[in-house]
Amino acid sequence: MPAELSPIDKAKYVAARRAIEYVEDGMRVGLGTGSTAAWMVKCLGEVVREEGLMVTTVATSVRTAELARKVGLPVATLDEVRWLDLTIDGADEFDPGLNLIKGGGGALLHEKIVATASDQMVVIADRTKQVDRLGAFPLPVEIIPFGWQTTKALVEEILANVEVLGRSVAIRMNGSEPFRSDEGNLILDLHLRRISNPAQLSLVLNQIPGVVENGLFLDICDVAIVGNADGTVELHDIHRGTVEQERVDIVDGDNLFVDIVD
Ligand code: A5P
Repeated sequence: MPAELSPIDKAKYVAARRAIEYVEDGMRVGLGTGSTAAWMVKCLGEVVREEGLMVTTVATSVRTAELARKVGLPVATLDEVRWLDLTIDGADEFDPGLNLIKGGGGALLHEKIVATASDQMVVIADRTKQVDRLGAFPLPVEIIPFGWQTTKALVEEILANVEVLGRSVAIRMNGSEPFRSDEGNLILDLHLRRISNPAQLSLVLNQIPGVVENGLFLDICDVAIVGNADGTVELHDIHRGTVEQERVDIVDGDNLFVDIVD
């Protein structure tokens, strides 16, 4: 592993490298969005180029699709593929039940559609994403631009009646303009600090007409791979109820380590 990588990038890299072992010849693979997922796209591109693995991929964002094409992965639309064998994505938080908060990168809608259309979802993360309870990371909620101030007020109203520790809601900005998702929608970030009942919160949020989707991924993730800077990974398998430690063999000389920007 190259010495110039920061400890956090080493952790993301080994998690991504291990996740690639879930990909089999002929699979249709969903590609997540974010800095950890970018490592995975690079790793998968290398395996496809050097070992001739055949895959079809569906990207969860424009930027992931661009990176995938750059590293030589065939990218299809979800409508062309319809169903996926596997999705590998990052997360902003995951709890012991492998429930997630996602959407820090603003791609939660496509990510949720793609993960839900997959037989298996593998999350890759560094240790900072592992929590006992969801909520320290602000929960992203994608809303349509029409009447967004009203939608924000309705979100604030429902938060008064759910068990959370914080209730401030902020429209996500990109410089001086509101952030826009790949669908042209807006994102509200809900600063909740601790979510006591994620299932209830997800349900009530999605009942508000202007809400498109929220960043709680509940009962979707099958496996979480936590990378460590020392080259070890921890595999959490929700179906087997196991947590296993492994060491990832790094092949020096791989030219994966340049131009990874996300
Ligand atoms: C993108 O919208 C998010 O769901 C990402 O999966 C999440 O923000 C993790 O990103 P990093 O891997 O960059 O932390």
